[in-house]
Amino acid sequence: MDKLTQHIFLIGFMGAGKSTIAAKLQEMLDVKQMEMDQIIVEQQKMPITEIFEKYGEAHFRDIESQLLIDLKNEAPGIVSCGGGIVVREENPGYMKESGKIVFLTATPETIYERVKDSTERPILNGNMNVEYIRELMEKRRAKYEAAADIIVATDGKSAEEICSEILAQM
Ligand code: S3P
Repeated sequence: MDKLTQHIFLIGFMGAGKSTIAAKLQEMLDVKQMEMDQIIVEQQKMPITEIFEKYGEAHFRDIESQLLIDLKNEAPGIVSCGGGIVVREENPGYMKESGKIVFLTATPETIYERVKDSTERPILNGNMNVEYIRELMEKRRAKYEAAADIIVATDGKSAEEICSEILAQM
């Protein structure tokens, strides 16, 4: 692929592999990687779980949307979004103004295996099971699909294979 002219936004459920694939694409394309959750933690000077506990999910979603608007001014790079980025209706529009949206999918079973030991995902704290993951994924599926320019299934594939599929479709 030629030089990146717009952002690549990676969206998908928690544990879909957004951060892993962002790191690999960053390496392959030699561009900047932007981890939205990490930027929010640095800006707010507190972990995501604490933002949820102290100020609630709606406040976290406000911060996420504002960050998407701010990212429009950054040089083209790989943006790894939080799993709930499609919850706010306006967010896909902000992303489309500065990039292409890649939806990474995985089955609830794969997701569970990848996130089961994590305590840093407030949405799953107390709900760490395949059934809850399946239900929430179903609730969000239409939103991820509507936002996506490209959809790539990640189950059983290496990071290299997933990146090649993404780049072939760009
Ligand atoms: C969330 C996903 C998390 C993080 C926050 C909320 C969600 O990001 O933004 O805990 O609502 O799905 P990851 O997808 O990187 O875990």
